Amino acid sequence: MKPAPKTFHVKSFGCQMNMYDGDRMSELMSAEGMTPAEAAEADLVVLNTCHIRERATEKVYSDIGRLRKNGRAPMIAVAGCVAQAEGAEIVRRAKVDVVVGPQAYHNLPELVAKAARGEAALDTDMPVETKFGRLPARRRVPPSAFLTVQEGCDKFCTYCVVPYTRGAEVSRPWGAIVDEAKALVDAGAKEITLLGQNVNAWEGEDASGNVQGLDGLIRALDRIEGLKRIRYTTSHPNDMREGLIVAHAEVEKLMPFLHLPVQSGSDRILKAMNRSHSRDSYLRILDRVRAARPDMALSGDFIVGFPGETEADFADTLSLVDAVGYAQAFSFKYSPRPGTPAADMAEQIAPEVMDERLQRLQAAINRDQEAFNLASVGRRCGVLLERKGKLPGQLIGKSPWLQSVHLVADAAIGDMIEVEIAAAWPNSVSGVELVHEAA
Ligand code: 5AD
Ligand code: SF4
Repeated sequence: MKPAPKTFHVKSFGCQMNMYDGDRMSELMSAEGMTPAEAAEADLVVLNTCHIRERATEKVYSDIGRLRKNGRAPMIAVAGCVAQAEGAEIVRRAKVDVVVGPQAYHNLPELVAKAARGEAALDTDMPVETKFGRLPARRRVPPSAFLTVQEGCDKFCTYCVVPYTRGAEVSRPWGAIVDEAKALVDAGAKEITLLGQNVNAWEGEDASGNVQGLDGLIRALDRIEGLKRIRYTTSHPNDMREGLIVAHAEVEKLMPFLHLPVQSGSDRILKAMNRSHSRDSYLRILDRVRAARPDMALSGDFIVGFPGETEADFADTLSLVDAVGYAQAFSFKYSPRPGTPAADMAEQIAPEVMDERLQRLQAAINRDQEAFNLASVGRRCGVLLERKGKLPGQLIGKSPWLQSVHLVADAAIGDMIEVEIAAAWPNSVSGVELVHEAA
């Protein structure tokens, strides 16, 4: 038994959807009257975990050990995808107080109360009725806010745990999303990033009962006064429909940035990954996107060292990178996930081969990112100021193409200002303010 916690700390790992969930859990705890605190002092620590790669599970166990150092014994809740995948095993192994999956965290206060009474507190259900309706309203939000509109995945790429930990593809209803977007804007958001594991698979009925895709939703958010920018992530090539591409040409608030993971440039590997798109069909989508919006900045995800990947397959990935010219991209070493088909495939790749391929891929991506940043020098664009920089008077914001822009200006966090990009570095650009537009 532990006393009911008065203070809490949420630590989120992994993707932006986990960050969103972490924020919502914090709001939930605050609504229960608890106050936020540093991890080393909080009565309740929520570890909002990620299971996508590496030894994420082991990391959770070592984190738990660290929290219990110096004779401290906070109540510990394990949330997120490791909680979903490991369930009761975490309680057995690490004697944590609460285990709660990504679809059940609206029950966190109840689980915490149970744990305080010394009862078992585990919930990894995936109920049909979603958690969202049972979360408190959004109150304090940053200038650039996240909004989860879709969860889960039905694609079953052979390396990926998401379909198992996050469940099937579910779209949140139109009305709930529009209401949450308005609440975010009322609370100070200027930019909203719509989140989903397959966000462009979003589908729902609008207020008149017409079936809409993500483009329809984007057009509805476009009408919210005070909202200046809309983004979305992550998309799947097979759900990149015409309407969304057209929206990029027509909706001014929709930013010219697309994160479209491809994973590999080799058709043989894409097939083994069960990606259900080819190198060529992916490249053709990007051609259409660029025709609609010529200044589109492109981003992607890559996995190197998938089982059976030969040097020739990897060369196809490098040539795809050359062909696209990404503005930025993420690349990972393949990590076998227990229970996924690829984990049992023959021809697992040696770690040193993966290391070497990852280095070459990242060098190519970095080269293109720097080239993209250099090519943007002289461009004029809006910058949404998000935080203070390290230097006195310095502010950091984002360009439409998601570059970090460093500048000095007589402006406040949350302002949108007009900037000319003045210089470029591998990971950021600097800007000079042109005209100050009141927020
Ligand atoms: N190993 C390495 N990377 C992975 N990803 C997903 N599963 C794995 C895995 N088992 C990467 C993919 C995906 C991103 C979110 O994480 O590139 O797009
Ligand atoms: Fe995982 Fe593939 Fe679904 Fe993306 S599309 S979440 S990589 S299974």
